[in-house]
Amino acid sequence: MSFTTPMTRTLLGMAVGLALSAGPLTAQAQSDEDVKMGFIVKKPEQAWFINEQEAATALGEEKGFEVVRLSGEDGQEVLSAIDNLNSQGAQGFVICPPDVRLGPAIMNRAKQYGMKVVTVDDRFIGSDGEPMENVPHLGMSGYKIGEQVGNAIAEEMDNRGWDPDEVAALRITNYELPTAKERTDGATAALLESGFKKDNIFDAPQQNTDTSSAFSAASPVFSKRGDFEHWVIYALNEESVLGGVRASEQYGLDPDQVIGVGINGSGAAFAEFSREKPTGFHGTVAVSSTMHGRQSADNLYQWITDGEKPKANTETTGKLMTRDNWQDVREELGL
Ligand code: GLA
Repeated sequence: MSFTTPMTRTLLGMAVGLALSAGPLTAQAQSDEDVKMGFIVKKPEQAWFINEQEAATALGEEKGFEVVRLSGEDGQEVLSAIDNLNSQGAQGFVICPPDVRLGPAIMNRAKQYGMKVVTVDDRFIGSDGEPMENVPHLGMSGYKIGEQVGNAIAEEMDNRGWDPDEVAALRITNYELPTAKERTDGATAALLESGFKKDNIFDAPQQNTDTSSAFSAASPVFSKRGDFEHWVIYALNEESVLGGVRASEQYGLDPDQVIGVGINGSGAAFAEFSREKPTGFHGTVAVSSTMHGRQSADNLYQWITDGEKPKANTETTGKLMTRDNWQDVREELGL
């Protein structure tokens, strides 16, 4: 596939160039064709990231640039990916880093090669502990989306007629990752605002941002708090909420005793909503991973071709997706 488009464009560019004897036009077509960028993600097996990479690739096919999809699950893998991109002649890359504190090391390597870098989803942190403002970023407005999660949970508790004083919350946290903290903080604030009891919120710190780390973190919390009949579950993403829901099932809770609300709206949620019977996974705040993938790649493309540096920070919003409306929301967000 990636051969056809550039080849066709080369021929077209040459034909136009010859017909009009317009040297600069040919040169322009030539320089556009040569654009190659990496798209490095921390969790290449997760539907969110697969979709982002696919969307970037599709945009490249439309606009005539090449996207090299790479995995960067730890610092070593990211640095090798950057070396690999350099040997392929890439001018830059989009990255969701496996650890935001790798920012300075990643930027050093990119600078050696003269590559442009934009981050997506997880924003680099500098050695001063602050976001690296000089690296353009596109990600969720974590706190607001978290608030949507908290409100969705409160509303469903109300629908089910639960007494807020008797409900426990499993808050699966990842405080190493600022966007994760913003999301769970936003959800907590909205829940407290709705009358949830602060003392009934129990933390399950996860080591990673996936289902298995959430499952391991959640299991002991259920065992310790066997006194509660009703549980709500939230986390930075739906994969982690699913880990919590699976742990609740293993502990013996029924779906009508659990309200889990995630964030992402990716294939992980679609699979859960497609099950024959509802589970404790009530919903998820969907954000367009298609848009994240396209927009971040497009920002980098503009920067490479026009020298126009993208804005320091772009924040995206979300929409609640449940078993009832997931197909419509999916379509609306182009997922
Ligand atoms: C983080 C999470 C992902 C996804 C993105 C979206 O990287 O780990 O699951 O939520 O944020 O920005």
